[in-house]
Amino acid sequence: MKIQGKTSVPGDKSISHRALLISALAQGTSQIVGLNYGDDVVRTLEILQDLGVQISYQEGSVFVEGKNLSFNSPHKVLDCGNSGTTMRLMAGVLGGQSFESTLDGDFSLRQRPMGRIIDPLSLMGCKVHGAMGGTTAPLTIFGGDLQGIHYELPVPSAQVKSALLLAGLQARDTTTIIERIPSRDHTERMLQSCGAPIVRKGNQIEIVGGRTLQSQIHVIPGDFSSAAFLIGATVGLSGSELIIEKVGLNPTRLGFLTVLQAMGAHLEIIDSEEWGGEPVGDLLVRGSTLTGVTVEGELIPLLLDEIPILAVLATQALGRTMIRDAGELRLKESDRLASLTSELTKLGAQIVEQPEGLEISGPTKLGGAKVHSHGDHRLALALEVAALFAEGKVEIQDRECGAISFPGFSQTLHKIIVG
Ligand code: S3P
Repeated sequence: MKIQGKTSVPGDKSISHRALLISALAQGTSQIVGLNYGDDVVRTLEILQDLGVQISYQEGSVFVEGKNLSFNSPHKVLDCGNSGTTMRLMAGVLGGQSFESTLDGDFSLRQRPMGRIIDPLSLMGCKVHGAMGGTTAPLTIFGGDLQGIHYELPVPSAQVKSALLLAGLQARDTTTIIERIPSRDHTERMLQSCGAPIVRKGNQIEIVGGRTLQSQIHVIPGDFSSAAFLIGATVGLSGSELIIEKVGLNPTRLGFLTVLQAMGAHLEIIDSEEWGGEPVGDLLVRGSTLTGVTVEGELIPLLLDEIPILAVLATQALGRTMIRDAGELRLKESDRLASLTSELTKLGAQIVEQPEGLEISGPTKLGGAKVHSHGDHRLALALEVAALFAEGKVEIQDRECGAISFPGFSQTLHKIIVG
């Protein structure tokens, strides 16, 4: 079996959330082309409708009527589903609105840490009540009248940084955020393209509040994190060759590419351009022989969402792959260090869970087994790729959750598999 041909992936999930939120905060009508329609982004869209934002569809585009920083008070609890990005970024938006609102989510989202946004929003003058001693959802936000702050992020998190930028946009004076370790910077790029007074000075980002954002045409690139599963399948099946068209190539997202190249994978950017401040290009990938590597430190935030597929590939690489400094993976849609270890072990992988990482030895011929996604979309997609490398039947329970970020993954994969 091998992979051959040309394909594309759904719109970038992170950029889609931001395009909806920033269009809603702007003045005038924005157009979004190529929005990701997975469950997470749909949650953001529906919550904006609950806040009085008019959203319509025409010929493949989404049109958002901006509310110029002023939303309607909602009549119900705002349901973020499984989406951490929706909850955290929306908390930043609602922090600046002078009404009471409640954000809630599913069982998984209710377990995830929200103290990381509650603390800085409280410093800005917003009252947020949470469950479990004020650390988890549901979150009730009493917003309005924010004051800019000077804040150093305790964890490298683009969701926290973005929540504070969106709150800072609505605050008095300047908000300054210090990030010692860089994380994805889509919010900064998009705010800048809409005319926000935002500047980066070294590891500091400053935004001045109270200014109007301009409406835009946002064209969303393909999601590199979704492309990663197709890259993984191609690299792992010898004799394969795939072109993935119009993928987002923002440097703060490309850690997986850097690591795969270090492992010996053939990956090339064959064409690149810029869409609304975001680099985009076509990727050429070939089946390759891989060698184990160590992945740690500042590289981790640049490939955080790609660690599930990296772990699958590491089972096929010669020697040992060490993933360190990745404790944040325990706080995702599942505890990814535990869930990857348990499910890949069932397939026969040599994988050892560490407090803050994974140790994987290979190459291992994977076998058939019944595995579980743990309700985690990236685990479901990674296991679908692992199944391609396995001898015997791999049955993935709750694989449907893969649609949260990559609707139609199995169909896309099966169109490019030959032999
Ligand atoms: C995201 C940031 C990352 C990432 C998540 C999407 C974003 O989370 O893992 O899938 O869109 O800002 P953290 O901010 O928690 O690291």
